[in-house]
Amino acid sequence: MAKQKQIPETSNSKAQNTARGMDVQWFPGHMAKTRRKIAEVLPLIDAVCEVIDARIPVSSRNPELPDLIAGKPLIVLLNKCDMADEDATEKWIAHFQTQGTLAIAVECKTGRGLSQFKTAVKTALADRLAFYRQKGMTGKPLRLMAAGIPNVGKSSFINRLAGGGRAKVENRPGVTRGNQWFTIDKQLELLDTPGVLWPKFEDRTVGEHLAFTGAVKDTILDTELLAVRLLERLAADYPAFLEKRYGTLDFSGDSYDLLCQIGRRRGMVIRGGETDTERAAVMLLEEYRTCKIGRITLEKVEDLHA
Ligand code: G4P
Repeated sequence: MAKQKQIPETSNSKAQNTARGMDVQWFPGHMAKTRRKIAEVLPLIDAVCEVIDARIPVSSRNPELPDLIAGKPLIVLLNKCDMADEDATEKWIAHFQTQGTLAIAVECKTGRGLSQFKTAVKTALADRLAFYRQKGMTGKPLRLMAAGIPNVGKSSFINRLAGGGRAKVENRPGVTRGNQWFTIDKQLELLDTPGVLWPKFEDRTVGEHLAFTGAVKDTILDTELLAVRLLERLAADYPAFLEKRYGTLDFSGDSYDLLCQIGRRRGMVIRGGETDTERAAVMLLEEYRTCKIGRITLEKVEDLHA
């Protein structure tokens, strides 16, 4: 019988402190710089495309972005949809639509779904295009800013769209030297967001979700605790996926007990017959992140109304 270890709710203070530490020490400073830089480029762009992680569409956003873009049309790219629950992604697309925001599911690593992007831009900017036509400015390209917190796949998106060698660094009036503009085609130019958009680190759930997906380095979080918390979510929302991967499980105990069961299934036993939960935790997180457990979305539209 494996030894039971109680992991109290408050014991992830390490993760919380780290997240708070980031928030207090350098989050505001960095965001202030980004805020200023975005304000500078705003007059040059027609719209913003925000890349988010389809597995965590809430936590993978910068909470200040809507204010920063000051009413410019927004197109949301639910990226990494190959790893997300298809049904949940469809519900997110419908949800964004009800908010008046065009959203599309994409897979920037392979380029899947990106063919919809140009059509989405034309739809979102139909008024602007009509205005250009009216003024006889049909050749004027639309200019978009690509935004996204680190690790959502923004570089993959820009690279896929711009293709090799088509990047250009350009100076435009009023724009800081070094802003990255990419010519996609005659009708579309893309600006990489100047500065870094950070997630809402100070929110414990956001920090955890970013850690589950690997967007935040494991070294700053307790791996065992993280795995236990992930199992809590998976046992609630995707128990069949867990059993498909690890065999029949007894869900009557807590999620630490589930981690022990999974570890034992994989022969992760140390001297004295105890489960090597540290190894089991590393394995579980790795298998979640590489989609071996299944296509899983941790944040659902339904949670917004819970
Ligand atoms: P960023 O600019 O927003 O920081 O993100 P970046 O494009 O560097 O992508 C971060 C990681 O996410 C990369 O993995 C990238 O391959 C992966 N990624 C991007 N888009 C997708 C997608 O649609 N599906 C999947 N499954 N993965 C995606 P990495 O492990 O850091 O690098 P590598 O695997 O490319 O070597």
